[in-house]
Amino acid sequence: MSTNINNNGLPNIDDLQNLANELFKALPNEFPKEISLSPDKAEHPRATKIAETILHTGNLDQFGQIPAANPSNLPPAPPAFSGFGASPSALNHGNTGAFALYPNAGAGFDPQNKNSSSGVQENHDLNINDPHTGFHDVNLKNGNPAQLNEESVFSPLSLNNQYLPFQTENSSFEIELQAALSFVDTQFKKREDFPLGGNETTSSYYFLDQNPFAFDKRSTDIIVGNSFDYKEINLFKGHPFDAASVKKDFPILKETVNGKPLVWFDNAATTQKPQSVIDRIAYFYKHENSNIHRAAHELAARASDAYEAAREKVKAFLNASSANEIVFVRGATEGINLVASTWGDQNLNSGDEIIVSNLEHHANIVPWKRLADKKGLKLRVIPVDDDGQILLDEYAKLLNSKTRLVAFTQVSNALGTITPAKKIVEMAHAAGAKVLIDGAQSVSHMKVDVQQLNSDWLVFSGHKLFGPTGIGVLYGKEDLLNEMQPYQSGGNMIQDVTFEEIKYHKAPNRFEAGTGNIADAIGLGAAVDYVTKLGIEAIGQYEHNLLEYATRLLKEIPGVRLIGTAKDKASVLSFNLQGYSNDQVGQALNNEGVAVRTGHHCAQPILRRMGVETTVRPSLAFYNTTEDVDTFIKTIWELKKVRF
Ligand code: ALA
Repeated sequence: MSTNINNNGLPNIDDLQNLANELFKALPNEFPKEISLSPDKAEHPRATKIAETILHTGNLDQFGQIPAANPSNLPPAPPAFSGFGASPSALNHGNTGAFALYPNAGAGFDPQNKNSSSGVQENHDLNINDPHTGFHDVNLKNGNPAQLNEESVFSPLSLNNQYLPFQTENSSFEIELQAALSFVDTQFKKREDFPLGGNETTSSYYFLDQNPFAFDKRSTDIIVGNSFDYKEINLFKGHPFDAASVKKDFPILKETVNGKPLVWFDNAATTQKPQSVIDRIAYFYKHENSNIHRAAHELAARASDAYEAAREKVKAFLNASSANEIVFVRGATEGINLVASTWGDQNLNSGDEIIVSNLEHHANIVPWKRLADKKGLKLRVIPVDDDGQILLDEYAKLLNSKTRLVAFTQVSNALGTITPAKKIVEMAHAAGAKVLIDGAQSVSHMKVDVQQLNSDWLVFSGHKLFGPTGIGVLYGKEDLLNEMQPYQSGGNMIQDVTFEEIKYHKAPNRFEAGTGNIADAIGLGAAVDYVTKLGIEAIGQYEHNLLEYATRLLKEIPGVRLIGTAKDKASVLSFNLQGYSNDQVGQALNNEGVAVRTGHHCAQPILRRMGVETTVRPSLAFYNTTEDVDTFIKTIWELKKVRF
């Protein structure tokens, strides 16, 4: 069967519809048999997309050969579902009454009867403006959320623990789809090794693009720019980032909690440490322990060498121009306080303006607010949209000749929003302002290149980069650091002291008064080595896929409202669950061994902007797996079973 092409080059909608319906007639009985592709009828876009996918093959007749939904005929579950333990019995969804093309419809839903007794009407009745999820889902129209009840969401089989509710509703859909697509592949088209597709925005593999392990060009653009070699992490070809192996490098991840394997989803608060970091710190105390810089003996030389080697590693990691631009501090918080207390105090005067964003952690608000109060400065705030994305137009309006500093986060700890950092820096510099970037939540997820960003300062904490607590980094442009007065004073930061005059060292020593955290700086160097060995680009790509995987599953749970739905996000999945306090959700997860943070995450302004005081916040890292996500998702579904 063929299709006519319109004058505008698009396929004729009626032909498309006929093609799609032929497919549906060939599918097993529980599938809807008719769809309408008329734009007026606003059919489910997934169904529309199926039809488009078929159209790309140019031949529908072969679809008559698609095997019925018999588990033994289905291909192996795709990697995205490996963690569900998708056994044949789990895939045996043929008689559940769950309609795969209507993913939120469960038992009792009848696509022929749009006023089904279940209360779910053709997937149009969830109230997106008073959302169970923060996602803007074009499938959903306004409506009364009360119409969505437990009966409508859970099929009978989902309640008898044979498998998870979402497997009957959504996984089955995906599995059917994979079957259809793989059939299309083998029959009509040999898929290229990996659908990179340059700037491709449309693809016949729409659904594969929805696979969380599909390549996503957008993320690599953000993370590494266009130079990234995608072939190194070809996730479709069975060479995914091997998170399960990586996990073995982290001894604490072998712990059990409440008899369950620990799932560490509190990575935005702190990350776990690989054995190599633990060993490096132990080695220091066994073989190198000494104060640095001040003695001629062997151990002082070993300690000094190791400490300065760590600085060099951080310099390379951030692509700073010189190791002199790397100051070891206690953490991101101390780095920001250092800049506020030195450069800020020296250079800002009454009437000057500081801009921060609405997304900031308290550590990037309080020091500036205190400085503003002390010196009569004006603190201005870049607003965000309802998804938690920086409004650049509004930011542009805040910039003026009085703006002296813009301080903002590269990744929001509460929402996960990735901010357009380079653009924000450029705009600040054009207005004559200096820029400080809070990299606490970004350095572990994406390539952070301070020369490329061109920020004046950037701070991060070692413990969020798989290194020890109590150590962090202030990066600053060398000339700027040397113009800044010391932060703390004492030994190690001076060239010469008399009672009449004191000469300070240049950076970085000028800012490292007293005996610093030598062992942990060296441990941080080992953490940088570890991350560098894995490859920050590969890490970023893997985590992006894992976040999409988790997001897709979480947002489909009724009663979940995602807080923070920016297009570009890293690591974080903040949410509320209707009917439960956040602490109850956190406790239930803890019972299953899953560690998440609940609360305001030291970012009250942004949570209030999103209309909440607190959230449950799972946050991912590269050692998390789809199995970890599945444990988390299963627990949330179990909560929904009990109380809707
Ligand atoms: N800033 C850390 C967090 O977001 C502590 O949890």
